[in-house]
Parts: sequence; C-alpha cells; structure tokens
Amino acid sequence: MRKKVDIINIKMIIKKVIAKRVKDSRGEATIQIIVQTSDGKFKTSAPSGKSVGKYEAKPYARDLNSDISIINNLNAKKINSLIIKKFEDLTKLEKVVKNKIGANSLFALEASLLKALACENEKELWQFLEGKTKKLPRPICNIIGGGVHSRGIKGKKPDFQEFLFISNAKTIEGCIKVNKIAHRFAYKLLRSQKKNDEGAWETNRSNEEVLEIMNVIKKKIKKKFNENLVIGIDAAASSFFKKTYNYKNPKRELSENKQIEAIKGLIKGYNLYYVEDPLNEDDFAGFKELNKEKCFIVGDDLTVTNPKRLKKAIKMKAINGVIVKPNQIGSLLKVKEVIALAKKAGIKTIMSHRSGETEDDTIADLGVGFGCDFIKTGIYGLVRESKLKRLVKIEKGLKR
Ligand code: PGA
Ligand code: ZN
Repeated sequence: MRKKVDIINIKMIIKKVIAKRVKDSRGEATIQIIVQTSDGKFKTSAPSGKSVGKYEAKPYARDLNSDISIINNLNAKKINSLIIKKFEDLTKLEKVVKNKIGANSLFALEASLLKALACENEKELWQFLEGKTKKLPRPICNIIGGGVHSRGIKGKKPDFQEFLFISNAKTIEGCIKVNKIAHRFAYKLLRSQKKNDEGAWETNRSNEEVLEIMNVIKKKIKKKFNENLVIGIDAAASSFFKKTYNYKNPKRELSENKQIEAIKGLIKGYNLYYVEDPLNEDDFAGFKELNKEKCFIVGDDLTVTNPKRLKKAIKMKAINGVIVKPNQIGSLLKVKEVIALAKKAGIKTIMSHRSGETEDDTIADLGVGFGCDFIKTGIYGLVRESKLKRLVKIEKGLKR
C-alpha cells in the first residue's frame, strides 16, 4: 500500500540514462551523461584537468570505457525506485554507484539528474539548488599563461600557470566587457600570436615581466575606461616543486621558506589581490604563513574540493579562499558541503572550470545556486564563453 503512495508522489520518471564519450577542448575524450525523462533530455559533460592535484578523486573508476558501460547498464527502473525528489536524495544514488564509477562520471550523472529534477519543478538548475541568490559570482579571467598549460615560445614561458584579472564592474556583462579589453591589450603588449589551453596568451617572459605588463594593462584600462581591475595569479606551485621549487625562467631553485618570502615579495611588489596555490599541495603550514598577508590566499591542489582537506585548512587558518571544482570530488553533496564549510569559516568560494573543457555550462548554475563569490571561466573561446553567456542569462532573469 505504502509503495503505491510513493509511486503516485513521484513526478519525475526517468526513461533512460545514457553515457557516451565526447571530445573536450584539448581533443581528449571525456564523459557525457544524458538523463531522459518525459520532459526531455538533460545532459552534462565533465571537464578534465592538466595540473591535477595528487589528492583529487580519480576521474574514472577504472577507465572511461568501463564507467560508460557501468552507467549504460544502470537500470532506469532502479534509479526511479530510489525516489529522488530533492537535492539531498542524491545520497540514495551515491549508495548505489559508490566506488563503481569515478568522479567525472558521478559529477555528470548527478548534474544531469538535478537538471531533470529542476525542470520537473519548473525551475532553472540554479534556482533548484538554492534559489535566493542576489549577488552573482564575479568572473575571474585568465589573460596570460605559463606552467603546464602552455607550450611556451622558443622553449621559454613563465613558471606560473595563470595571470588573472578580476573586474569590479557592477554587472556580469560589464565584467566580461572589461576582461575582453584586458585580453586584447595583453595581445598588443605581448605581440603574442599563440593562445594556450585556456585561451590565455602565451609568452616567453618571466613571471615578474608578465606582472609588470598586467600592471600596465590595469593602468591603461583605468585611464581609458575608468574601470578598475585587480591582479591575481595561479602559481600551481606543485607542478614545479620537487623537494625545492624549481624555476626555469629564469633558472633558480628556492627552498620552501625562500618560496614563501618570494611570494610575499610579489604580493607587495605587484599589489596582488588573489594568489592561488602559491605553495605545494602538502604545505599547509606554509599557506598559513602566507595567509597573514593582505591578499586572498586560495587553495586548489591543496584542498581539491574535499571536505576533509578543507577542514584541515580551516583549522590551520591556511587559506581565505577556496577553489571548487566539482569533478575533483564528483559528489555534488560534497561540493555543497565544501561551500557550506567555507562560508561558515569566512572563506571566499571560487567555482572553477578546468583547463580541458566542453561547452557545458553547468558550473555557472552551480556557482550561482550555491552562492559562490567568484567563478573562474577564462575569457576567450567557445568553451570558456559558454559559462559567461549562461551567467549573463541568469543575470537578466532569462530561462535556458
Ligand atoms: P587544471 O588547472 O584544470 O589543468 O587542473 C586549472 C587550475 O589549476 O586552476
Ligand atoms: Zn589552480
């Protein structure tokens, strides 16, 4: 009898769950998952990282193909029997697929299910997640690149991975406009013809030379358009750390302590507002030391969107900003937990894309719905702009 009542209560009936392989912006294979209901098809594609943190969850349990076949063999009836009506019901799904699929697959599956559920409830995904958000996440934009995201010019590149701008324009559209101008100015100043994985300009210059250029761009934009920008970096320091920090441009080797001093010098010297992964992913104590500076000290490889690692960072006062990459952990329940933990501790949250992306714009809805402070999307190319376009739509109150 009781079962019958439950069945009447379920509105959403899943007809099919389909997993397939699609290409990302690097031409590498990733997973796309489609959940089909009577309302239509709801799909999500997972991105993929290149400077992957060693504590990230594995993207696939064994490999992409085996995750695809596990998901394609998931019985729609079985998922329907779980009665997923609200966000927290994802727990029931996770019990079924636990350890069977990797983080990329779990993220895409959960996001597609939530999109279907949101539609069933006549809501946009971001509204279904929380719905009360007034302030939208401010875009962080990658202008110039180095590190493992860039091939370099004649074998030379900056050691840091990303040189970033954040605009304080009042609207998302305003921020995009200023960021686009900054990206064009960088092209003119660097005379670079090459863009990297994330659409940022490649160069043979050193970190310091790039930061000089960023300051020139910032001043030009202030003078010409009266718009304010602040400067950030993602050092992605684990990618050049092996007992010591091994810089190539120019060649030098810094101890862990010397690296802390060097970063402090850059924060002061170039008035940095945002510094992501300035130290290697095991150095919580070093992060704590840097967190005394007046600057956002942000964990990415350090925290890997993992509640346990974030709790440690909070306890040690290691960071005041945290990157949230859903496919670093897979579970959207954990993503929500990470954001809630950060907010409670007064830590700013940054929803983030990966260097390998598709045109999927799910992170825009997640960033808005979970009330993140910032969103890292890049500024150039279709796969970057799709997220920004979605943010503009949300800002204007438009539907998908
Ligand atoms: P990834 O890099 O997507 O290659 O991991 C992005 C970042 O480090 O923020
Ligand atoms: Zn990073």
